[in-house]
Amino acid sequence: MENKKLKIGIIGLGTVGCGVVKVLEKFNDIEIVSASVKNLNKKRDVEVQNLTSDSMEIATNSNIDVVVEVAGGCGILEVLKTAIKNKKHIVTANKELLARHGAELFDLARENGVVILYEAAVAGGIPLILPIKTSLAANDFKSVAGILNGTTNYILTKMEEENLSYGECLAKAQALGYAETDPTGDVEGFDAMYKIAILANIVFGKRIDVNQIYREGITKITAQDIKIADELGYKIKLIAQAKKADNGIDVRVHPMLVSKTNPISDIKNATNAVLLDGFPVDKVMFVGPGAGQFPTASSVVGDILSLKAEFDKGENILPMTVCHHSEYANQIDVNETKNCYYLSIVAKNVKGVIGAIGCACAEFNVNISCVIQKGDNGDGSATIIVITEETLEKDMNQMIQKLQNENNIQITNKIRVL
Ligand SMILES: NC(=O)c1ccc[n+]([C@@H]2O[C@H](COP(=O)([O-])OP(=O)(O)OC[C@H]3O[C@@H](n4cnc5c(N)ncnc54)[C@H](OP(=O)(O)O)[C@@H]3O)[C@@H](O)[C@H]2O)c1
Repeated sequence: MENKKLKIGIIGLGTVGCGVVKVLEKFNDIEIVSASVKNLNKKRDVEVQNLTSDSMEIATNSNIDVVVEVAGGCGILEVLKTAIKNKKHIVTANKELLARHGAELFDLARENGVVILYEAAVAGGIPLILPIKTSLAANDFKSVAGILNGTTNYILTKMEEENLSYGECLAKAQALGYAETDPTGDVEGFDAMYKIAILANIVFGKRIDVNQIYREGITKITAQDIKIADELGYKIKLIAQAKKADNGIDVRVHPMLVSKTNPISDIKNATNAVLLDGFPVDKVMFVGPGAGQFPTASSVVGDILSLKAEFDKGENILPMTVCHHSEYANQIDVNETKNCYYLSIVAKNVKGVIGAIGCACAEFNVNISCVIQKGDNGDGSATIIVITEETLEKDMNQMIQKLQNENNIQITNKIRVL
């Protein structure tokens, strides 16, 4: 029997799109019918027949079975909706689009009998989405947590290894192409927020409102925080996490002190890692390249090949990938969460300061597990580090407010502990 080719259209020929074209060269049963870009005159290191600047042509082309969207951003939403209505399966690497508009897209895909595959959208080259939906399908998950942004992990690793400031390490990351000219999406935690929204949705079987996710980036982390954390047995990492709570799901992204006994603390540079905790599997960790042309193309092409393997069935392709969630999760407000905290405090080096900190902690139910004064800063002030036991976030914030009102005490950072 003749092996029918799977016909695809690619939207976007940038870093990932060009990688996909290169990797597909050895797969004779996949045909790239056409591709779309923004600027037809840009030089590219791949050649594709039928290049267009109108992505709607791809969405409506009756000769295309699968639309591969590697353009990025939410501006492409209408094009993908049109492609789905035209009964095309979708492969996408677009985390922002899925985190913000996934509900609408997945409902539309189900109504039209097509699937949306998105292995590349979370943790680039690491196989995660399909393994969670298939090999780990028997599990009831307690939590998913990890390092989902390579740029910030690279910056934090360099700050630690070279004792440099955040700004110096951001500049290094930009020079090496790990960070964009406008790094906001990475350093302020947006990228990790989109990814944890997608992961939480799959792991807990509920839709997640990305606008309700608590998010903090890494811009306030200092070389001193990293050094002190290291002395106390921790690394500082940007952690994206989703945990089952008594009455909902606690989803957030922020820097955390991670104990050196936790394998996540060993993840360096641009590598990503995801730790799942469930029953019956227990803890399982996925580690690998979270971005880059070829790792990301590996996931995109893997999705295309999964579709190819089932395509001749006609109907009911890859049924385990279809999203049936309809209910939104009750997302826990960060003020209602309990965490251990690292506080760095700069105080006038006078008698009674530690006592004042102790009194404020007692007033707001904060139990201290460790307090250290790092000598005198040479200007009459001293740096004091406090690590607390588990405390309600709103109690901690009230305690901090109380201390800030003392004119000889300044809280310079509050970082949660994993
Ligand atoms: N880069 C990674 O390592 C990585 C990893 C995981 C996921 N992703 C995701 O993959 C997607 C693509 O990322 P990338 O790094 O490849 O981006 P990129 O290098 O900026 O490429 C984007 C491509 O899309 C084209 N494009 C933009 N708007 C378009 C539109 N409306 N219609 C048609 N084409 C359009 C651009 O055209 P021009 O070339 O003409 O400007 C460019 O070719 C994003 O969703 C990103 O989040 C990327």
